[in-house]
Amino acid sequence: MRAEHPRLEAGLAALGIEVRSGTSLSELTSLGIGGTTDLLRITKHDSIPELIGLLEHHDIPYKFLGGGSNLLVGDGELPWVILQLAKPDPEIVLEGNFAHVDAAADLGRTVTFCAKHDLGGMEGLIGVPGTVGGALRMNAGAYGMQIGSYVRKVKLYRAAERKIEILSGEQISFEYRHTSFGPDDMMLAVTLELPSKPFKEILQGIRICNEKRRSSQPLGQKSAGCIFKNPPGASAGRMIDELGLKGLSVGDAKVSDRHANFFVNAGRASAKDMLTLISDVRGRVENAFGVKLENEVVVWNA
Ligand code: EPU
Repeated sequence: MRAEHPRLEAGLAALGIEVRSGTSLSELTSLGIGGTTDLLRITKHDSIPELIGLLEHHDIPYKFLGGGSNLLVGDGELPWVILQLAKPDPEIVLEGNFAHVDAAADLGRTVTFCAKHDLGGMEGLIGVPGTVGGALRMNAGAYGMQIGSYVRKVKLYRAAERKIEILSGEQISFEYRHTSFGPDDMMLAVTLELPSKPFKEILQGIRICNEKRRSSQPLGQKSAGCIFKNPPGASAGRMIDELGLKGLSVGDAKVSDRHANFFVNAGRASAKDMLTLISDVRGRVENAFGVKLENEVVVWNA
């Protein structure tokens, strides 16, 4: 989809939107898969309601991209433009035990920045790729913690209300890899309240989590993290492994040899390859265990 109408282009320029035409989503996703469209980079949160109005006026569908680390995007020319927040400077402002963080900030850098200021709690998230906004939307978690536990306030674009709102932590429900945000809501900024901890102690926790992750997950390869959510009381990775499916592939889409719930792009996998692999594995697990695995990865298919 192209944002090419002259009046639209003028409107976008007036809102300070930077247009990157013909961007390949394979460059913006950790899986390295995805077709081409125009990327619109938002430099001012306040411009969003007007931007959405402008796109709708010109009948241009859109999707909102975070860090692209839990996402499988379809192949070819995509039928929507992509909206993404540009990173502001500074991305994080600290105030006592509160960290005010822009949604575009990198999650790992946020964890280490806070650690250096003796604010801990998020050690488990250290190797999780993506932005703070993406982590917030899906309530990312690992090693017994989840980001939702530290959220005190969220600034977001409420798609249903068509306006920017601020919610308190109590107004949001955070569950396992799920939140009460609407599907089209855009995370803009968050205030986290983090416990005080000496940097050295936090660093120790970070090292332990890094070590665990390195020993069990295929970190150097292109993936979207875990493909499926864990069903209650079980591990999707263990079930897939028990069926002997590590290494199973469709084209260059492959079940990781290291962790069976990670599906990697081992070369030039297409979205079609990856989707076929996902549905094949889901079917085999259902036949063997009677459990229908639910996607953790978000699929944007044309
Ligand atoms: N296991 C296997 N074979 C495998 C993978 C795992 O036998 O190929 C076994 C492990 O040996 C272990 C058990 O399954 O006994 C659980 O494995 P692991 O500790 O790796 O945890 P997981 O349930 O597979 C979850 C999260 C990860 C998170 C880790 C650590 C989900 C879907 N996955 O994985 O999150 O990093 O715990 O807390 O919730 C993600 O969400 O993208 C993700 C990677």
